[in-house]
Amino acid sequence: MIEVRGLFKRFGANEVLRGVDVTVPKGQSLVVIGGSGTGKSILLKCILGLERPDAGTIRVAGEDARRSDREAYLARFGMLFQGGALFDSMPVWQNVAFRLMRGRGRLKRAEARSVAVDKLRRVGLGPEVADLYPAELSGGMQKRVGLARAIAAEPDIIFFDEPTTGLDPIMAGVINDLIREIVVEMGATAVTITHDMSSVRAIADRVAMLHAGKVRWEGPVDEVDSAPDPYLRQFVEGSADGPIPAVR
Ligand SMILES: Nc1ncnc2c1ncn2[C@@H]1O[C@H](COP(=O)(O)OP(=O)(O)OP(=O)(O)O)[C@@H](O)[C@H]1O
Ligand SMILES: [Mg+2]
Repeated sequence: MIEVRGLFKRFGANEVLRGVDVTVPKGQSLVVIGGSGTGKSILLKCILGLERPDAGTIRVAGEDARRSDREAYLARFGMLFQGGALFDSMPVWQNVAFRLMRGRGRLKRAEARSVAVDKLRRVGLGPEVADLYPAELSGGMQKRVGLARAIAAEPDIIFFDEPTTGLDPIMAGVINDLIREIVVEMGATAVTITHDMSSVRAIADRVAMLHAGKVRWEGPVDEVDSAPDPYLRQFVEGSADGPIPAVR
């Protein structure tokens, strides 16, 4: 479903991605891990076309991202942004239903609202939240609204950038289960970025670790605890000692 080959992306002297290869088969869940600033969010933004790569190819369902019709291309994706990226001036339900009320085949207001309330319920938020504004919510509630928006249009491909950061452990478990469910039930292809190893274990079919601009390690989730790669070991064990410096 997603095939990234030889992806390069730099910002001035900062060479963030230096030849990244990633493949995600249809219906699979890939989790991307790696230190802060290693380019995990940029990788997703390049796939979405929000950042322009310097070199490399990105194919989605066999189609070259650069040559495809932008609107049709983006319609396949749902994305939870790391910072939430909610529209401050819109109530929660309109944030969630944003895409459902636009373009061809758009829903009537009342229908869109009812889908939004249903998606909010799936992320553990009651109907009373629908008419609040993002500024009236806690950080974790905002995160869950972003998640509800990402899944609202039932896209084929969903990107989750740190879906459980800032959530309490119970809610993080609920969200992990939800992501797994979306992959299994909807047959969606998912790429999730997380620092949370319990999320990795709950969500991933395969895991890719970014380091120094490349995929340092890639493999099935059940090998994460036994693979000998020292960079992976340090990350998984959360150790200050190892090849990855603590000051970057
Ligand atoms: N628009 C931009 N302009 C300049 N530099 C950028 C821009 N966006 C990202 N970067 C740089 O690219 C690098 C990778 O950023 P990215 O957000 O992908 O990191 P990340 O792996 O997602 O980190 P974190 O785990 O902290 O979210 C960082 O060094 C960042 O400063
Ligand atoms: Mg990030």
